[in-house]
Amino acid sequence: MPDTYILGIESSCDETAAAVVRSGEQLISNVVASQIATHQPFGGVVPELASREHLRAILPVVRKALADAGQSYQSIDALAVTQGPGLAGSLLVGISYAKALAFALEKPLIAVNHLEGHIHAVLLEERQKGNRDLRFPVLALVVSGGHTHLYLAEQQGESWSYENIGHTRDDAAGEAFDKVAKLLGLGYPGGPVVDRLSVHGDPRAVKFAPSQIKHPDRRPTSPQTARKEGALENVRPRFDFSYSGIKTAVLRYVETHDLKASIESRREGLAEITREYDVATLFVTGGVAANNELRQTFEREAAREGLPAYFPSRPLSTDNAAMIAAAAYPKFLNGEFAAMDFSAEAGMALK
Ligand code: KG4
Ligand code: ZN
Repeated sequence: MPDTYILGIESSCDETAAAVVRSGEQLISNVVASQIATHQPFGGVVPELASREHLRAILPVVRKALADAGQSYQSIDALAVTQGPGLAGSLLVGISYAKALAFALEKPLIAVNHLEGHIHAVLLEERQKGNRDLRFPVLALVVSGGHTHLYLAEQQGESWSYENIGHTRDDAAGEAFDKVAKLLGLGYPGGPVVDRLSVHGDPRAVKFAPSQIKHPDRRPTSPQTARKEGALENVRPRFDFSYSGIKTAVLRYVETHDLKASIESRREGLAEITREYDVATLFVTGGVAANNELRQTFEREAAREGLPAYFPSRPLSTDNAAMIAAAAYPKFLNGEFAAMDFSAEAGMALK
């Protein structure tokens, strides 16, 4: 198979990004234009402003990604763009641009799910390091500003499939960081600020109650619903998350529990997940995977379980287009190209 150069484009939220990746395993260029300064005064992403900034940035960002890679519009083999999930207006900027470029250049266009991109950020870097010894199934935790999902990932030939076995019931993990930071007047985005400040903090100063999920998931895919509907073969345990309680806890500074209990329940939770699904490898990815405490905890717990755990480097943890180009490569090999009439899918699920 000759080398394949894919130009990836990502514009799902507040980063305009373009990258060139060779054959899904070599990062050639990676350009990210952040809109943090635009949204900072509002303490969160303002969708209309995000679309406008994407329009401004997309052309120079793509040109720089090609120039950095020593590539041209003509020399690349295919284009890949994020289809969803994300902000509809933001997604449409990347999609319209990628479609026009693919049409003009007569090159194939590949539509990629943003969450699949986060998972492939890990794979890209592991392959780049020469690690080809990946054991399946992979348990992938995607934790970012908009998402907290747990997937079981399998590979058959060049095709990847994902089963969602857990998700947040309320806020995403990154959202909890961002909202708490906003509440405390720490700035935006909150994750990196809290992370930096945490080394000066005292983890025992305030005891917060671990979040509890008491009610069964009402989504049709939940084991409870499946059981009710008699679809017993679909009954699979789920591992959900909840972060809205911590916000309230921080806000009120009341009702303290023993912190050890929460650590123990997390440890048990991880052990339970790996037992239930006989997982062989653990991925932790997405913006919040840049968090030091999270990395250390997962590394420690995974080592205890004898489980290899992989994280993306920090630049590839947060939104970028290299992950989109990397996730597109297996689809390129399979000839899974997007029809020219595909559109943005703001609430796109990963399967
Ligand atoms: O993956 P990402 O760039 O965008 C989404 O797909 O949502 O993730 C952005 C999120 C923000 O909520 C930000 O506060 C959080 O990732 N984040 C962090 C850290 N760096 C970024 N959270 C905790 N610790 C960090 N070091
Ligand atoms: Zn993301």
